[in-house]
Amino acid sequence: MTPPPLNPEWLRQALAGGRFGDPLFYEERIGSTNDRALELLEAGYPQGTLVLAEEQTRGRGRRERAWLSPPRLGIYASLILRPALPPSALGLVTLAAAVGVARALEGRLGRAVKIKWPNDLIVAGQKIAGLLAEGRGGGAAPAAVVGLGLNVNHQETDFPAELHDRVASLRMLSGREWDRQVLLPEILRAWAEEHRDLESGGTNRVLRRWEQASFFPPGTGVVVDLGGETRTGVYRGVGPGGELRLEEGSGIIRSVSFGEVERLREER
Ligand code: BTN
Repeated sequence: MTPPPLNPEWLRQALAGGRFGDPLFYEERIGSTNDRALELLEAGYPQGTLVLAEEQTRGRGRRERAWLSPPRLGIYASLILRPALPPSALGLVTLAAAVGVARALEGRLGRAVKIKWPNDLIVAGQKIAGLLAEGRGGGAAPAAVVGLGLNVNHQETDFPAELHDRVASLRMLSGREWDRQVLLPEILRAWAEEHRDLESGGTNRVLRRWEQASFFPPGTGVVVDLGGETRTGVYRGVGPGGELRLEEGSGIIRSVSFGEVERLREER
């Protein structure tokens, strides 16, 4: 059975006047919601503008990976952010987004939703969502598009076999179908709250909540793939700009702002 579509008119009413989701651009099928949102960003659309699609034909993940976006199963959404923050703090907006989305999902799912640096959402070791930030940090007015891909009503067979041990959806975790229309406004509300806290001087609070949700407890041995180079060390939390702090053998802390982190497997 084909899952039901979202009702954009209902969503527009639910989101009207809120901080995130007004205006709302809705598409049945699109290349990438991030691409569309980047166009709208350049055209001057305000913070909170949302692009939502039922299906993406060229959904993008971090590090030039594809993001699987089958029709009506997930939430594929991109938000324009023009944070009242210095350009150097732009990296924090995705961390705040991850905290907000995790908080909204945890409330609904009744299970811990962890954040794997920088912003993968993990439940029981399986990835259920990711965030992709793109935009411009230069100039006096930083602006970004942050895209959210959330696996909602996917079943295992909707994913390629090689991902089966690493990914899940809300449906696979809970054994029931989810109403994306109810979920989306809740996610946007929690996300907007974290974003507002960031903008009103609450960076340390947001970072603390991020740390509390961290998939790796501080002190975990990790390996970081920097793209072409890997580094091993001890995870020491995140720094003031959201960068990963890696303690290397020498005791020196390296700040990593781009890469992929995994638990270091003990050799026997
Ligand atoms: C990742 O974990 O690699 C990030 C995935 C981000 C996917 C979302 S889906 C909506 C938006 N549009 C895109 O093309 N990508 C993001």
